[in-house]
Amino acid sequence: MIVCMASGEGSNFEHIVREGIKVDLLITNNTTAEVIRKAIRLNIPYVIAVKDYEAHVPESTELVILAGFMKLLSKDFISKFPTINIHPSLLPSFRGMNAVRQSLKAGVKVTGLTIHWVDEGIDTGSIVEQVTCRVAESDTEETLQNKIKKLEHTTYPRVLKDLIKLKEKRL
Ligand code: GRF
Repeated sequence: MIVCMASGEGSNFEHIVREGIKVDLLITNNTTAEVIRKAIRLNIPYVIAVKDYEAHVPESTELVILAGFMKLLSKDFISKFPTINIHPSLLPSFRGMNAVRQSLKAGVKVTGLTIHWVDEGIDTGSIVEQVTCRVAESDTEETLQNKIKKLEHTTYPRVLKDLIKLKEKRL
């Protein structure tokens, strides 16, 4: 069973599902998140849980995919379920919130995305994949965010497919 957790727009969630990854359940902590509408459109069962979101992850879950999930998960949860996340910077630079804003402020010329396993820290887990892009002089937070999201939409499904294939081979 694969569970996706998201709090916002859900563009990554949508691309993951459209690319053929069988997401069994979406969990969101945000009652007004756009991702809910996407789950309905894509026919994916969903749960809205403002607080006890962890409790809604079924015991049989083999992979938790975080896609813009804005809450921290407990130590117990992380040790129980393999959990993967996507972050809009080249970790270990610019962890946490507003990573794109932080990158622009620091004046970096190259940035990108990181896909990583989730551990107890904030964006500190082991890195699975990184993809880079250049920061243009003219980039604003919005244009850079969009540039990175475009890369996320192809990279996250590709990496997830590879991980799932690897796991199936091992069984
Ligand atoms: C993405 O930029 C991702 O890197 C970050 O949250 C954002 C989620 O966007 N963790 P969306 O909700 O998938 O559109």
